[in-house]
Amino acid sequence: MKESQKEGRYSRIYKQLIELVLKSNNISARMATVIAVLHHKMDYFSWTGFYLIADGEMTVNMYQGAVACQILEKDKGVCWAAFNRQKTLVVDDVHTFPGHIACDSRTNSEIVVPFFNQSGEIIGVLDVDSKEKAAFADVDVCWLEKILALVYVK
Ligand code: SME
Repeated sequence: MKESQKEGRYSRIYKQLIELVLKSNNISARMATVIAVLHHKMDYFSWTGFYLIADGEMTVNMYQGAVACQILEKDKGVCWAAFNRQKTLVVDDVHTFPGHIACDSRTNSEIVVPFFNQSGEIIGVLDVDSKEKAAFADVDVCWLEKILALVYVK
């Protein structure tokens, strides 16, 4: 998808999400809504979901897409790298990322966005996979970070 098309799509999704998430203060309801809307509106997203730290382990949480790894080995792969650096990571070709954890062999590129709670503490990540190579760009970084911030908005 072209950058200008992505811009338009994200901007419409963002407006829709504001209306939807503000209907409930329940964090799980908001997370589930974000995942469902993103996964079904962005056709290059093949897996869309959260990994959250639970008892020290990076554990899969709500998601849409094929069955995923339940627990990610500590400090290995893209999710842990984004979590440890507290920075969004875009990987154009997952096959060249050292330690990449392949839950689905059809995945070619990936974006992982840190997920912070209302106190600004990192609690996990949003992980999006694509079957396309280099599917994610700066426009995805900006919008996905902005969309994630809606989960804890007052
Ligand atoms: N590829 C991720 C693991 C999660 S799956 O893609 C759903 C990683 O390397 O951390």
